[in-house]
Amino acid sequence: MLLNLTILPGDGIGPEVTEQAILVLQAVADAFGHQLQLQHKNIGGAALAATNDPLPPETLQACLASSAVLLGAVGSPAYDHYPNHLRPEAGLLRLRRELGAYANLRPAICFPALEDCSPLRPELVRGTDILFVRELLGGLYFGEPRSIQGAPGSRVATNTMTYAEPAIERIARVAFELAMKRRQKVLSVDKANVLECSRLWREVVTRCAKDYPGVQLSHMYVDSAAMSLVQRPKDFDVVLTENMFGDILSDQAGGVVGSLGLLASASIGGPIGVYEPVHGSAPDIAGKGIANPLGAILSAAMLLRHSFQLDREAACIEGAVGDVLNRGYRTADLAGDCQKATTTSEMGQNAVQAMKKLASAAKRKLA
Ligand code: IPM
Ligand code: MG
Repeated sequence: MLLNLTILPGDGIGPEVTEQAILVLQAVADAFGHQLQLQHKNIGGAALAATNDPLPPETLQACLASSAVLLGAVGSPAYDHYPNHLRPEAGLLRLRRELGAYANLRPAICFPALEDCSPLRPELVRGTDILFVRELLGGLYFGEPRSIQGAPGSRVATNTMTYAEPAIERIARVAFELAMKRRQKVLSVDKANVLECSRLWREVVTRCAKDYPGVQLSHMYVDSAAMSLVQRPKDFDVVLTENMFGDILSDQAGGVVGSLGLLASASIGGPIGVYEPVHGSAPDIAGKGIANPLGAILSAAMLLRHSFQLDREAACIEGAVGDVLNRGYRTADLAGDCQKATTTSEMGQNAVQAMKKLASAAKRKLA
C-alpha cells in the first residue's frame, strides 16, 4: 500500500518526537511491504517565522493532497503577544476545520509497566483504559462573536459557545460506534446545570443512544467527572464531551496514567485525518533530546489504523511500545529519581527494534 503522508513537525519538541515516529513508520512499512511517501511542511510558529502565516496555503494544499497528516505540536512563547489569528495555535485550529476533523479520539491507557509512574496508587490506576471522544470543531474554540473591545482598563472580552444539533449528533454517533467495539459504556460529560449548550447536548445524546441499545449511556457534570477521573479512572470507558471540556479532561487523564507524553490522538471525521500527540510543544524541554516520543509513535499507530485500516501494523507499533516500557526504558517524564532516563532517540530506536521483532513474529504466524 502507498502511505502518502504530510508531515507537519511544527514547534518545540514537535520535530524531535515526529522524527522518531517516522523512523517507526518507516520500519513498519518495510516490514509489511508498504511504501512510505512523505512531504514535510511548516505549521504553527515554524510557519509564522517562514511566511507570517501559521497555516500557509502550501501546507494546506499538501495536506489535502495526501492521505493522512502526522503532526508534532504547535505553540511557542515567542508568539504569546500576537493577535489570535497570528498565533501558532490558529494554524492548527484552521487545519482541523479545513480538513473537517470534528472527532478527536484520545485514548488514555495505563500501561502495566507504568503503574508506578502515576501519582495515584497503583491499585487505583491499574487497568485504566479510557477513550476520550472530544468534539473538535465547535464550542468556545470556534464560536462567534469573539473579541476584546474597549479602552485599556475597561476592555471587555467575549467568547461564544455554540452547538447545533447536527454537530452534537455526529460526534455522539462516533462515540456510540466506538463504544460497541469496547466495553459498551458511554459517559457524556457536560455542564447541563448551567449551560444551554449542555442541555441541548444532553438531550441530543440521549436521543441518539436509542439507536444503540447495547450501549449503556450515563451523564456527568464536568466538575464531577474531573473528580471521578482521579478517584476511579478505571470505571471510565468512552467519554464523550465538547471541545473545551475534552481539552481539559484529556490532559488530566495524561497525568493520571503517568505522563501526558504517552497520549496519542486522532482527529478524524473529514476526508483526511490528522494524528498528533496530545502533549504540545513543551518549549521548556525543546531541543534537549529528552522529550518522550511515545505519544507521537502511538499517534502513528492510530494513523495506520484509522486512515489506512492497517490494524495489524498498528497493533505491532502498540505492542512495541508496551515492550520497551516492560523492558524498563523511561524518558525523563517517566523516570523516577534513581532511574536513568532514556533519550528521545534511544526510545525511538528501541521502539523500532521491538517493532521489527513483533513484525517478524506476526508474519511467521501468518506463513
Ligand atoms: C490540544 C491542544 C490544542 C487544543 C491547542 C494547541 C490549540 O491543547 O490539542 O489539546 O486546545 O485543542
Ligand atoms: Mg490540549
